[in-house]
Amino acid sequence: MIQIKHLQKAYSNITPLKDVCVDIHRGDVISIIGPSGTGKSTLIRCINMLEKPTSGEIWVNGQCITDKKCDISKVRQKMGMVFQSFNLFPHLTVIENIMKAPVDLLGKSRQQAYDDGMQLLRMVGLADKAFNYPDNLSGGQKQRVAIARTLAMEPEIILFDEPTSALDPTMVGEVQAVIRDLARKGLTMMIVTHEMSFAREIANRVFYMDDGDIYEDGTPEQIFDHPQKERTIHFIRRLKVHEAYITSRDFDFLGLVSELEEFGRKNQVSQKTIYRMQTVFEELCVQIILPQLSGDFSMSVITSYSQQDEQASMQIKYSGNAFDPADTENVLSMKLAQNAAKEIVYTPIQEDAFRNRVDLIIK
Ligand SMILES: Nc1ncnc2c1ncn2[C@@H]1O[C@H](COP(=O)(O)OP(=O)(O)OP(=O)(O)O)[C@@H](O)[C@H]1O
Ligand SMILES: [Mg+2]
Repeated sequence: MIQIKHLQKAYSNITPLKDVCVDIHRGDVISIIGPSGTGKSTLIRCINMLEKPTSGEIWVNGQCITDKKCDISKVRQKMGMVFQSFNLFPHLTVIENIMKAPVDLLGKSRQQAYDDGMQLLRMVGLADKAFNYPDNLSGGQKQRVAIARTLAMEPEIILFDEPTSALDPTMVGEVQAVIRDLARKGLTMMIVTHEMSFAREIANRVFYMDDGDIYEDGTPEQIFDHPQKERTIHFIRRLKVHEAYITSRDFDFLGLVSELEEFGRKNQVSQKTIYRMQTVFEELCVQIILPQLSGDFSMSVITSYSQQDEQASMQIKYSGNAFDPADTENVLSMKLAQNAAKEIVYTPIQEDAFRNRVDLIIK
């Protein structure tokens, strides 16, 4: 469906895409992942010519869209784009937002555009909001309207650029559910996302972008479980580690607990295991170890998850005098921690910042 040949995009001081060559097939659902600044947005913006490539060719259905003679507005109608921000027209109702382009650009009758629009709103679960204004919707609802509006143009491919990253975490799920539904219906899609479990579950192909290129292109299993190339291996491995560094009693406890939750969900850790990681953090780190630390102190909590063994482990290091948590007088917290973790092993160490280390495995 789309062939990209030696695509290069250079800005004055940086060349995010050096030489991208790839074919995208009808029905492909492609997740695009990778570190920040590696050209993920640039790639999908080039595909619909929001950015003009510096060199190379992009062919869509046998037509070279990078050719000067190509009518790019016609091609763009076939490519939907959903951004982080929703860009709905604030002065139009939801249904008018959806009807506008089919009437203006496709020449649909208003009645037809309305009927089709209502159908799409039902699909994204928002038919009852048809006559609301965007300002009266939540972020998740706005993004679902934006998706319905894109679908109203009957695109052959939809390009998503981090469609859930501007949303309140409570609303990510409803938008992901809509996108998942589209994937099931066989739409061709490319989705830039940093939600790794979503990237994995939804796609038949994953592009890991790095080093000015689609550095590794494979199935979700290959990219997430058996990456072949050095940078992908590094990126994926790093994903499975969460590090917290605490140097004040006033640290953001709730923030850290929800980070652990997010880390767990990203790596498909079961809810029970996530809960146990949080329990160990709260009981062992906060209730038992933290009160022992005085003056300028530091504590490092590294949580790792191995998908192979389906096992989470934690390493806790802290400053101060030698202190084995097993000696705590806080018997209740220790009991709760032991209920959530096995093999809690204490070792005194001699590192610059730390004198104590506890290793454990989450049950
Ligand atoms: N219009 C521009 N002018 C100059 N440099 C740009 C422009 N747009 C993007 N860049 C640079 O190109 C590089 C790639 O940007 P791009 O937005 O594609 O990265 P990304 O992979 O989408 O990153 P992120 O994950 O942060 O969204 C970055 O270094 C960025 O600063
Ligand atoms: Mg981007």
